[in-house]
Amino acid sequence: MDRIVVTGGKPLQGEIDISGAKNACLTLMPAALLTDQPLELTNAPRLADIDTMTKLLVSLGASVQISEQGRRLVIQAAAFEDTLAHYDIVRKMRASILVLGPILAREGRATVSLPGGCAIGARPVDLHLSGLERLGAELELKDGYVHARAPQGLKGAEIDFSAVSVGATENLMMAATLAKGVTVLRNAAREPEIVDLARCLRKMGAEIEGDGTDIIEIEGVDRLSGASHRVLPDRIELGTYMLAPAITGGEVELIGGKKRLVSALVEKLEEADISVEDTERGLKVKRRNGHIEALDISTAPYPGFPTDLQAQMMALLTLARGVSRVEETIFENRFMHAPELIRMGAKIDVQGGIAHVQGVDSLRGAPVMATDLRASVSLILAGLAAEGETVLNRVYHLDRGYERVEQKLAGCGARIERFKD
Ligand code: UD1
Repeated sequence: MDRIVVTGGKPLQGEIDISGAKNACLTLMPAALLTDQPLELTNAPRLADIDTMTKLLVSLGASVQISEQGRRLVIQAAAFEDTLAHYDIVRKMRASILVLGPILAREGRATVSLPGGCAIGARPVDLHLSGLERLGAELELKDGYVHARAPQGLKGAEIDFSAVSVGATENLMMAATLAKGVTVLRNAAREPEIVDLARCLRKMGAEIEGDGTDIIEIEGVDRLSGASHRVLPDRIELGTYMLAPAITGGEVELIGGKKRLVSALVEKLEEADISVEDTERGLKVKRRNGHIEALDISTAPYPGFPTDLQAQMMALLTLARGVSRVEETIFENRFMHAPELIRMGAKIDVQGGIAHVQGVDSLRGAPVMATDLRASVSLILAGLAAEGETVLNRVYHLDRGYERVEQKLAGCGARIERFKD
């Protein structure tokens, strides 16, 4: 298993290209199942999760042509060979559940394994399932699989989500594009990835309004067609690399970055005395007065502070002046990076969903273990700022969500190397 070794203590200087958004691409790819025509996606990121989704689509009978070094995908589901999404593929990635709505809407039946993914809490799919039931699907849970049927097709309905879920909003939005009549999604997620999906679905002929607000209205159509769509920039990758010069000192320009994608983070960085400036090509980040101020964050659905940046922000706050309070409200069990940061000399006290972080003057490199995707990268950030060597084990989580992480950081002068065992 690969290891990444970071020798810290060097301020980063340079620029980093931001890739296409993993989470947008993972929902745009299943959207191709809604039509027998080809869907072209450009600016796709090159990541293990995208390979997993490709395998899943191919196993269902879709063809996936990959070109431009993985940046361009052309997906065509002319006909389904299978309407069964196997446990072997689905267990690797929770986003696999996003094929359920599209297959069911087009074929009137689908069988999808209950998903796996990062070990960050229970992560049920009840909102996806109860939403599909509201659209008239008959569901049965058996042997770890969801067996869904809608022999007469899906029918538009009002769905009032009891909690905000990105995945459930996406699944229902896709399913509703081919349902008979109007579907209204209330308490819908507002993430930029939802807006990106809606834009792509509209190009395919879907009738959707209200994306980006908490009420989305979809009028079903008989069929959708192919389209071409450019995946939006990855706001979590952007936020992660914005935190790199903040934690090491120095100055980094994030090419393709836009403040509106990360406005909650920009607000908090300003509060921490880190400056974020617009440039012609993206954003430039540096410390304003040489230090980091403590602050409080609480994760929330978009436009709140993203849970996917909580671990990276905590790494920054370990070196802040004063005590910070970090509250995680989206996932239980998402502080697995805290004990590893403590091994590097951080002072963190976790009580339930709240962590108090007492800033220290410096961190020390240590062997650490990554337990989920965002935890992994938070340890890399900490390693970049720490004195000495940090060895990150179990890096496969990192490869699920960060494209060429070593090259991107090394391009700014970071001493970071991957070793293959
Ligand atoms: C997506 C992102 C993930 C991010 C998360 C929250 C993708 C591929 N992944 O995940 O990176 O961390 O949004 O911003 O886009 N829940 C239920 N029942 C459900 C669905 C969700 O209780 O049926 C709960 C979850 O356990 C969690 C919360 O709702 O506590 C939010 O989850 P959700 O927004 O659905 O996350 P994902 O779409 O899985």
